Amino acid sequence: MRVRPAAPADYDRIIAVVDGWWGREVHGILPRLFLDHFHRTSLVAEAGDDLAGFLVGFLSPSLPDTAYIHFVGVNPAFRGAGLARRLYEDFFALARADGRTTVRALTSPQNTGSIAFHKAMGFTAGPAPAHDGPETPRVLFRRSLT
Ligand SMILES: CC(C)(COP(=O)(O)OP(=O)(O)OC[C@H]1O[C@@H](n2cnc3c(N)ncnc32)[C@H](O)[C@@H]1OP(=O)(O)O)[C@@H](O)C(=O)NCCC(=O)NCCS
Repeated sequence: MRVRPAAPADYDRIIAVVDGWWGREVHGILPRLFLDHFHRTSLVAEAGDDLAGFLVGFLSPSLPDTAYIHFVGVNPAFRGAGLARRLYEDFFALARADGRTTVRALTSPQNTGSIAFHKAMGFTAGPAPAHDGPETPRVLFRRSLT
């Protein structure tokens, strides 16, 4: 398994698999801009020629203490073996190297797998009933990097 920084060209192979990996339509919340503008702080995992997983994250330009993870996905064939943990720990390391002390993320309340994963990774989870508008509740995650 090889983990490397993402490149803009990774977008096409990532967007081709996300709906299948999530088991529902999610491609609309990963527009190309994330890979074009945040590839240096995003990660791709490969097993041979296969895309095994990816993390899309960035160092907040507005909150100097904060790093943010927008998306993480692991190929169903590679789940349960610590790959998402490795991607998160690599991202934590690059965030700490930039002086970031907090990492944040969010998910939908129905994504119970994501909530369990983030709790296992040491995040606190709090409900935000109208976070993305009155019809769109989220669960907000926060973890200290210190
Ligand atoms: C959530 C996801 C990224 C986890 O990937 P993974 O590589 O299987 O996770 P890991 O093996 O690194 O697990 C790390 C920890 O989280 C826990 N965990 C991961 N998925 C879990 C789940 N569905 N339910 C309960 N715990 C889970 C593991 O038990 C492990 O805990 P431990 O280290 O204390 O033993 C993967 O299931 C996935 O891609 N899901 C679809 C996409 C998605 O929902 N992404 C997150 C929202 S953006």
